[in-house]
Amino acid sequence: MRDMKEDDIPSILEIEQISFSTPWSRESFLNELYEKYALSKVAVFEGNVIGYICADYQHHEAHILNLAVHPDFRRRGVATLLMHEAIRELKKKGCVFLYLKVRASNTDAQKFYEIFGFKVESVRKKYYGDPDEDALQLMARL
Ligand SMILES: CC(C)(COP(=O)(O)OP(=O)(O)OC[C@H]1O[C@@H](n2cnc3c(N)ncnc32)[C@H](O)[C@@H]1OP(=O)(O)O)[C@@H](O)C(=O)NCCC(=O)NCCS
Repeated sequence: MRDMKEDDIPSILEIEQISFSTPWSRESFLNELYEKYALSKVAVFEGNVIGYICADYQHHEAHILNLAVHPDFRRRGVATLLMHEAIRELKKKGCVFLYLKVRASNTDAQKFYEIFGFKVESVRKKYYGDPDEDALQLMARL
């Protein structure tokens, strides 16, 4: 587990393409890397990036903006490690509330987030495109 670097972005984009119907671009990740109130971590196995998490924060609130693990490495606790690492840093920054949005149909990710105490706070109608879908806004107290 370490901070994300610009050199990691090509591997991250491969995971991003497999994982999401509307993947982030290289520019989206670069923005996160150089954003002051943001943190981006990668999980590395045998020199290869196998997962990543991006979050930003302001005052007592933080948002998980992206989280994915390469399909070959899922269900081995990689995302759990990434979340713990992000939460540890966000708490140090003084964050108390953690938010994120997830597709209504992404029940796998919702099961994962439940373990961290996330609860549905609101529904954003047709927040996502390709396909159009509601977002569940989840919130957890750190
Ligand atoms: C969601 C995601 C990040 C989970 O990553 P992961 O490394 O496989 O998660 P972990 O191994 O740490 O899972 C911890 C626990 O969460 C739950 N969980 C994780 N994936 C699950 C799934 N597909 N179905 C049901 N429960 C799941 C399980 O309880 C799991 O523990 P177990 O494997 O001992 O049963 C991964 O599936 C992924 O990259 N999905 C595609 C991208 C995505 O949807 N990101 C979230 C966008 S909001």
